Amino acid sequence: MVRATRATRATRAGGTGSAADFLPERHTLPALRRAAAGCRGCHLWKVGTQTVFGEGTRTATVMFVGEQPGDQEDRAGHPFVGPSGRLLDGALERAGLDRGDAYVTNAVKHFKWVPDGTGKRRIHKTPNASEVRACHPWLDEEIAVVKPRVIVALGATAAKAVFGPQTRVTTQRGKPLRTPLAEAGFATVHPSAVLRTPGELRAEAEQAFVDDLKKVARYLARHTE
Ligand code: URA
Ligand code: SF4
Repeated sequence: MVRATRATRATRAGGTGSAADFLPERHTLPALRRAAAGCRGCHLWKVGTQTVFGEGTRTATVMFVGEQPGDQEDRAGHPFVGPSGRLLDGALERAGLDRGDAYVTNAVKHFKWVPDGTGKRRIHKTPNASEVRACHPWLDEEIAVVKPRVIVALGATAAKAVFGPQTRVTTQRGKPLRTPLAEAGFATVHPSAVLRTPGELRAEAEQAFVDDLKKVARYLARHTE
């Protein structure tokens, strides 16, 4: 009931129509997570099952930002636990990066989907710019609390959300990007793009993803104080 009241008040009082209307007073990860669970900053709270907030240690060196939770993440309530998460875990290991020293989150915290023709499967839909904008306050807060040395955007939606709309994964992947948000930014492909790569090209795409992550690992090793 408290949530409904707050949502109504935010709307009536001319709220921002974004997650900003739902930010808690205390900006700690547990307080943010609790507040995000009741977020109605955009219509996606009605589409996804639950808010899937970021996870990882508050002292993480690296923050990975994906697009939005997938089907399995939506059910589990945890980011990157489905097929994309398994691919990410394997790639991190091969690159010598430790998920235990990472914070993993998404640009949008609710799963956006449409039913397939038979109504049996939920088909992922890419969030649009206004949904990404509405959800951005959560990501801003996560970055402000965790203060990662490096932010890695996975895929175009995340790269544009974190580093700006002019970011191009194809030309900028694997290179340190200048950002006011961290010591360095990196953009690479989304693990689901690797999973979708057909046939013989798949192993190559996975290797290129691992190579990008190795560049992140090398950057961290080189710049360690
Ligand atoms: N894809 C994402 O972008 N994020 C997840 O958490 C899972 C799949
Ligand atoms: Fe709030 Fe983001 Fe979910 Fe929209 S997608 S309701 S802004 S948490």
